[in-house]
Amino acid sequence: MERTLAIIKPEVVERGDVGKIITRIEEENFKIAAMKMLRLTKAQAEGFYHVHRGKFFFDELTTYMSSGPVVVMVLEGENAIRRWRQIMGATDPAKAEEGSIRKEFGTDIQRNAVHGSDSQESAAFEIGYFFAGMEFHA
Ligand code: CMP
Repeated sequence: MERTLAIIKPEVVERGDVGKIITRIEEENFKIAAMKMLRLTKAQAEGFYHVHRGKFFFDELTTYMSSGPVVVMVLEGENAIRRWRQIMGATDPAKAEEGSIRKEFGTDIQRNAVHGSDSQESAAFEIGYFFAGMEFHA
């Protein structure tokens, strides 16, 4: 069993498509081990995306991610990290595979609907960033 962090990004919450993404997550047989809705401050978004500090899109990305509420979740299952990344599709929705979440719900490379941890190391950091032990319902 492995855990990954998923975020439903502000434009999806704003549009009212949260339920569709959660349905897809359940249909793909992930267990939702923890979940909450929150609005990040700019500083909190910068902390979360610290590995991207210095990149040309960092300021726009963190402004966007703090522009409205997001839904954060811990997804659990076999190979959860790799599997969730496959289901999300490529970072740029224009390049994402047919049937992927970003293809269906993404707008552009920044407003790409969802986030997923990219390694075991980042999953550990990202899960710890948002959730304390008592918030898990496994
Ligand atoms: P995410 O998987 O959340 O990880 C980093 C985010 O930066 C990415 O999705 C996009 O929302 C955003 N981003 C914006 N521009 C780029 C870019 N050129 N390359 C990669 N990520 C980008």
